[in-house]
Amino acid sequence: MVLTAEQQAALLVWGECRRRDLPWRRTRDPWKILVSEVMLQQTQIARVVPRYQGFLDEFPTAAHCASVPVASVIRAWDGLGYNRRAVQLHRCARQLVARHGGSPPRDLSALLKLPGVGPYTARAVLAFAYEDDVGVVDTNVGRVLARWQGRRLAATEAQATADAAVPEGSGWAWNQALLDLAAEVCLRHSPRCRQCPAHSSCRWRGRGGDPAEGSAQVGGGQSRFEGSDRQGRGRLVAALRRGPLLVSEAAAAAGWPDDQVRARRLLAGLERDGIAVIDDEGTATLPNAGLPDGGR
Ligand code: ADE
Repeated sequence: MVLTAEQQAALLVWGECRRRDLPWRRTRDPWKILVSEVMLQQTQIARVVPRYQGFLDEFPTAAHCASVPVASVIRAWDGLGYNRRAVQLHRCARQLVARHGGSPPRDLSALLKLPGVGPYTARAVLAFAYEDDVGVVDTNVGRVLARWQGRRLAATEAQATADAAVPEGSGWAWNQALLDLAAEVCLRHSPRCRQCPAHSSCRWRGRGGDPAEGSAQVGGGQSRFEGSDRQGRGRLVAALRRGPLLVSEAAAAAGWPDDQVRARRLLAGLERDGIAVIDDEGTATLPNAGLPDGGR
């Protein structure tokens, strides 16, 4: 995809006028950006917004986060779901302190080595904290790119396309505009092509089969929550946040009093993921990892 300077300018102007006022767009602090991006990996904006500032009040720097037991971070993650991210963010904070002077580095390959940081999150830190000219490709931006190109894109192609499209010196504003475009205009279902500021650079324009379906990065949405393992895990973590939980009471806490086997399997999964520890007496708790260990 090659955008002309006019097409880039049109999208930047649209982005400027329509930019959503989100708390993480008011900072360039790399730790605060990293926290927002980890939260946004799997949680909707509307759920992140009310929890973001509270989390940062408790952990304003990586050093604050690294200095507490992981249980405190899991507690502060309440309401965000997918609690494994809290464990990884805590490990990440310890690595940042041990190896990077307490702040996410301005270096793609170093970022990619951090726990819980993948290609999307690493580039989001570069674009949104350091204002670097890299393309930030999440599920939604992947959809926009595939439609622009008019065909399915493999992950590496989507990344190369996104990188090539960034107007020089506008990495921050450009990527925010693309996220807004994806969220408000280039919707997965019923895209609003007639309102699109990038209409003239789009090969698809809403006509014929959607090239984004089946493209890399374009997921099929989250599966049903009600009755799922994810729901049971969430309930178990909620119980652990309140205090110790007897393994024999896990099934009731998970919401399936008659299914001991399933509850124990979920508890074992939580233990594997570093979210719970189970002692010899059969009591599960949040793990209380000790002092910073240098990210081991
Ligand atoms: N999703 C991930 N990062 C985002 C951001 N900076 N703005 C809006 N949505 C996002």
